[in-house]
Amino acid sequence: MADTQVLVASNRGPVSFSLADDGALSMRRGGGGLVSALGELSGDILWVCATLSDADRAAARRAEEGRLDVPGIGAVRMLDIPPGTFHRAYNAVANSTLWFVHHMLYDTPNKPHFDARSRRDWQSYEAYNAAFADALAQDAAQGAKVAVQDYHLTLVPTLLRERRPDVKITHFSHTPWAPPEYYRLLPDDIGRQVLEGILGADHAGFQTRRWAEAFVECCAAVLGARVDREARTVTHQGHVTRVGVHGLGVDGDALRARAAEPDVTARAAALREQVGDRRLIVRIDRTELSKNIVRGLAAYRELLAKHPEWRGRVMHLAFAYPSRHDLPEYREYTAAVQRMAAEISDEFGDGAWDPLILQVNDDYPRSLAAYGMADVLLVNPIRDGMNLVAKEGPALSKNGCALVLSDQAGAADEMSGDAIMVNPFDVSQTAEALHQALLMPADERSERCKRLAAAATALPPQQWFADQLSALG
Ligand code: G6P
Repeated sequence: MADTQVLVASNRGPVSFSLADDGALSMRRGGGGLVSALGELSGDILWVCATLSDADRAAARRAEEGRLDVPGIGAVRMLDIPPGTFHRAYNAVANSTLWFVHHMLYDTPNKPHFDARSRRDWQSYEAYNAAFADALAQDAAQGAKVAVQDYHLTLVPTLLRERRPDVKITHFSHTPWAPPEYYRLLPDDIGRQVLEGILGADHAGFQTRRWAEAFVECCAAVLGARVDREARTVTHQGHVTRVGVHGLGVDGDALRARAAEPDVTARAAALREQVGDRRLIVRIDRTELSKNIVRGLAAYRELLAKHPEWRGRVMHLAFAYPSRHDLPEYREYTAAVQRMAAEISDEFGDGAWDPLILQVNDDYPRSLAAYGMADVLLVNPIRDGMNLVAKEGPALSKNGCALVLSDQAGAADEMSGDAIMVNPFDVSQTAEALHQALLMPADERSERCKRLAAAATALPPQQWFADQLSALG
């Protein structure tokens, strides 16, 4: 049905399904900025996403033309992509290659290693992108606006433009973008195809100026495209793409309303019981290589070693919920996080005081409770597109929290003035920053936290999305 005016495309959709033994399907609505942004937008929207599991595939097959009506969101079309194709596109290309390039995660003496098998993976990525382009081309009304999300779908803008030259397309990268010398790790033709894929869009959005500039430099260096650095435009093969910066923020009111619900207050009471009147350092991440959890724990260990006055007077809550466990690097990383946590508990725990609580299960209400209580929030990624934890924390803090923030997080652009900034590779500096954060006088902490919360909520998801649609004219 070519009848939709605004379409969104992303790998992970706003809902997921599970299948009971009797074949009954139940639907769960996901969290995340994009879901809340679109939940607020009334009107004619279609969200196109991939089926991620057998239950999703069953739901897509049962729905008419794969279209589901999701209360509070609108229409969702889940694409029934063959599992093998999906696995190669999502795990091998998107998460093991493009994610690693943009976050600069490779151990280059050994990886990457592009061979004949990588070619097959790449063909699956092309097929998966083409499936999205076909669906969007089929459902978009004449002159519709299409918002394509992230590194999973870099080829979609060009594939869609070929199919439907009348529609207006924006692509948004939630990740960092690699500088040209690192980007060139990709095989030459693949590197070109990714850039040319995004350049099929009329507008390409990034979280910060730094990532936008890196993209423009890659277009110049790799494609020889004509770039205007002042006006932020890239002209390639006669088509002009405007490059924009839209730093995604959080919706403070919605978050605070959610955090006032009974499941959150119950978890806050339980956490308070565990922590007592000790000072509290919190971190919350997906168990993700780029989040730098192991060095963060090492910094906490160094804090306790160098400043023994904190022993027994501080606790560290580290929530590291599971992510991308199909990839061996992620499983190994999770184990490394657990080993480091066990070492710290062994070294410093004394029966009466447990210095560290590491939890690796996903519990959203518990995370909201921890934000409310934190004295210090540690956000120390190696490299990060934005990092919404750095924004959610100050927005939900009850008594003002000090933010220790990596200078490699996109959020640093908007928050460095009131955070304590660290080089994420410098464990000793991070330990010292934690010490300074714990010592910060309460009134200074609360003043800074207010300004951090204002920065965090400056561009809430609804406005962020609306800005990108208006950038299409
Ligand atoms: C990052 C990406 C998102 C992705 C999220 C979770 O934030 O920018 O596109 O949705 O990670 O990753 P997952 O692989 O679990 O979808």
